[in-house]
Parts: sequence; structure tokens; C-alpha cells
Amino acid sequence: MIYPIVMYGNSVLRKRAAEIEKGTDLIKLVEDMFETMHAAHGIGLAAPQIGKSIRLFVVDGTTLEDEPKLKDFKKVFVNPTMINEEGEPWGFEEGCLSIPNIREKIERPERLRIKYFDENWNALDEKFDGMKARIIQHEYDHIEGKLFIDYLSPLKKRTLKGKLADISKGDVETEYRILAPLKK
Ligand code: NI
Repeated sequence: MIYPIVMYGNSVLRKRAAEIEKGTDLIKLVEDMFETMHAAHGIGLAAPQIGKSIRLFVVDGTTLEDEPKLKDFKKVFVNPTMINEEGEPWGFEEGCLSIPNIREKIERPERLRIKYFDENWNALDEKFDGMKARIIQHEYDHIEGKLFIDYLSPLKKRTLKGKLADISKGDVETEYRILAPLKK
């Protein structure tokens, strides 16, 4: 099942998402999240982006041809806890399925360590760097109620105000189904 993707302006994107009760069957939801993400050509999708305020996100970088390091990078993160982030911050132009057609250069630390469960409730504790770390940082922010545009300067944010208002109203072109909070 493909969910519509929640647009910027919806309060679900601003909540700290809730822990999922251990043992909950997540198989169908995870499948639907991958399906939704793939339909929108995304490489990461967090549960709040389909209107569910729970600590779950999926990533899949295996389709990025110019990123050979991501060829096995298809994962599910359940109840993740960021243990640390370190290393020289580096910039990359990020985008977000909930903020279509806006891309901005964002600086993030190079490496991280994260504890999480997979969809079968196996406990994991892993380190990631480079683009893998960046995708995880972006998605982890989603379950903390944070968006990539929060890192922009006030000036830059002001220049995007009109576009963001349009997105909230659903006045934006996407190739996927959206749920805009202020759509009339
Ligand atoms: Ni995003």
C-alpha cells in the first residue's frame, strides 16, 4: 500500500515520535514504507512522513548508481538511539519528500554510531560514515521533529518562505500523492 506523503506544515513532522512497543509486528508497515518511498523515488522515509508519529524509518540507497558504497544500504531502523556523531562536518545538497523541489546544502558530521532494532526486533549497534551517515542523520531528525531546513540561516529561510507556504497548501508539483495540511 502506498501512503500519501505528509507535506511541510503538518504538525506530525514537528513532534518527537513515540517509541514502539517491543515485539510489535512491523512487517506490513515496513513493506508499505518501502513501497511508498520507492514510488516517490526517495532514499529515506520516516514514519511521521506518512502521518505516524512513531520511531521508525527506512533507507534504501541501492538504486543510486553513482553511489557504489550504498549498493547494500537497505535498512530498517526501529526505536533508534543516536549514540554519537563525530568527524569533520561536510556539506551536501539535501532534499526531502515532505519539502518537494527544495534542495539546500547542509553540513553534517561525518560519522555516527547508532543503536536500533531491525524489523524483526534484533538489537543492533553500528557505525556509519559518509553518505550512509547523512541519510541516517536526515531520517533520525524526522523522528525528533526536525527538518533539514532548520539548519539554514534565517536569511536563507526567509527566501524560502513563499515556497514553503505553497507546499503547505499543496501548491507544489510532485510525481507522488501528497497530504498537505492547508489544502483547501
Ligand atoms: Ni526528509
